[in-house]
Amino acid sequence: MQPLNSKKAVVIGGSRGTGRAIVEAFLQEGADVLVVARKPDSLAELVRKWPSVRTLQADMTDTSTLETVFQDAPDVVVLAGGAMPPSQSIVDLDWETFSTNWNTDVKASYLLTQYALTRPAKAGTLILFLSSGAAIGGSPISGGYAGSKRMQMFLANYAQLASNRGGLGLRFLTLAPFRLMKNTGVGDVVVPKYAAFTGVLEEDFVAGMTQAQTKEDVADAVVAFARQWPTPVEGNVFVVSSDGIATESDMVKGAPFWTKR
Ligand SMILES: NC(=O)c1ccc[n+]([C@@H]2O[C@H](COP(=O)([O-])OP(=O)(O)OC[C@H]3O[C@@H](n4cnc5c(N)ncnc54)[C@H](OP(=O)(O)O)[C@@H]3O)[C@@H](O)[C@H]2O)c1
Repeated sequence: MQPLNSKKAVVIGGSRGTGRAIVEAFLQEGADVLVVARKPDSLAELVRKWPSVRTLQADMTDTSTLETVFQDAPDVVVLAGGAMPPSQSIVDLDWETFSTNWNTDVKASYLLTQYALTRPAKAGTLILFLSSGAAIGGSPISGGYAGSKRMQMFLANYAQLASNRGGLGLRFLTLAPFRLMKNTGVGDVVVPKYAAFTGVLEEDFVAGMTQAQTKEDVADAVVAFARQWPTPVEGNVFVVSSDGIATESDMVKGAPFWTKR
């Protein structure tokens, strides 16, 4: 297992929510961290708490952002940012709203993949996308969200294949938080909407989410992968719940075997 205190990490979408938990986990490990997000206030608040953190105010869907992301040859790049999914019935969505996460989450994953494979990024770089448990079972009030998060899983597989064929020595992973998480942007908006959609009280909806992980569980899983890459046999797609980490093949079988790392 590699220590992270000499490592450079970039967390895109690391100013709030799950990304911020990942940033704090990397900082606690002694890593040098660059955080990318658009809004200055949450970046400034992060720097007040962690003066050593470096920040870039930029949009992850701009190609130019990637020049700065890869400027210092990072060891780990985590794409934690994502757009707020729509929370309406499919009948109420126009195409613009339906495709929100395709034009942000998937576009940013695609640009990152293209950049890393074509420049290319230095051998030994880990590139990880945060996906969602919605990619497994769907999300009926989230428009194109679940499909976009599934696309991130495919992208990690395609990119790994391209890296292997080109002998680039890169590692592409997708990690899906299994359940919605409170105290995150997406969780705090979507949980009440799902409770209303299913006609239950919010606390009952939350209680019904078995194996619910926290954002800190997600951060621990990212740190574990940064310390030690999963083996090729384990694949490139993983799900994290409160029970630990499951592989894509376990996920597809529908009976995940959860392991602690
Ligand atoms: N939260 C959950 O319950 C949950 C469950 C499963 C999967 N996920 C996935 O986990 C990821 C994080 O979710 P979250 O709820 O923790 O997020 P969040 O709290 O809403 O935070 C989103 C972060 O991404 C940044 N961001 C958003 N759009 C960006 C853009 N275009 N360019 C640069 N930065 C951008 C935000 O900063 P700015 O707005 O300042 O740019 C912020 O730092 C998402 O991909 C989400 O789909 C979340």
